[in-house]
Amino acid sequence: EPMRELFGLKNIEDQLKDMFNLKEVIVVSGDSDELAWVKKEMGRATVGCINQRIDTNNIVAVTGGSTLAAVAEMMNADSKELNPLFVPARGGLGEEVRNQANTICAKMAEMAKGNYRLLHLPDELSEDAYLTMMEEPKVKEVLNLIRSSSIVIHGIGEAFTMAKRRQSSSEQLETLIESEAVGEAFGYYFNENGEDVYKVRTIGLQLDELKNIPYVLAVAGGSSKAKSIASFLKKGHVNILVTDEGAARELIKGS
Ligand code: BG6
Repeated sequence: EPMRELFGLKNIEDQLKDMFNLKEVIVVSGDSDELAWVKKEMGRATVGCINQRIDTNNIVAVTGGSTLAAVAEMMNADSKELNPLFVPARGGLGEEVRNQANTICAKMAEMAKGNYRLLHLPDELSEDAYLTMMEEPKVKEVLNLIRSSSIVIHGIGEAFTMAKRRQSSSEQLETLIESEAVGEAFGYYFNENGEDVYKVRTIGLQLDELKNIPYVLAVAGGSSKAKSIASFLKKGHVNILVTDEGAARELIKGS
């Protein structure tokens, strides 16, 4: 596309691909920190990516967040013949309803004319609740679907923004400060070197299970999120990144 060449986006995409060893990078123009529609454009690009990659009866797992909500809004029914099944990547009650993984999952399925299954569990569980829930047949069933998904689409958050959104305790905040957490994804917190320094006890996809999923697609943008994005990309689980120019330019500067 000539416009992308003109703005040098193609070049930025290639640089990011090399920097983080990714299969594919899509950078949309603008900075979603400043302009709300940029998030929608990331959503549109992500939908294109999903439609290109899903196959018959594939399972698509999604996390929560405002970025994923924008993906759901842009979802279309281009792949409806393939009968996709949408599942939340993990429990997520606690976020605002419209940003919860369940809500996003149901909305995507509705827009894509596919099916969905939900996981009605809090984001963070006590140890007792965790052990009990893991024995629930309905939970086990959805967990198996999640683990066999062929594509997972997830957001990346700034560590302290996420800790506040989750109403983390002062001990948890202390741990995050001491460990110099900068990013968050899937309930795990990461430092600048991409090491996971803290995790929320949650039911759903665990970090070490991501390697079994063919496509791990991260959608995150805004120049303020660059460090957070880098922290998770360094972990090496992501193979496709959809971001915006604001984050992309910071990521390249920071290298
Ligand atoms: C949350 C996910 O719902 O959204 C997090 O649980 C993710 O893992 C976050 O980091 C991203 O939110 P946003 O609003 O910045 O897209």
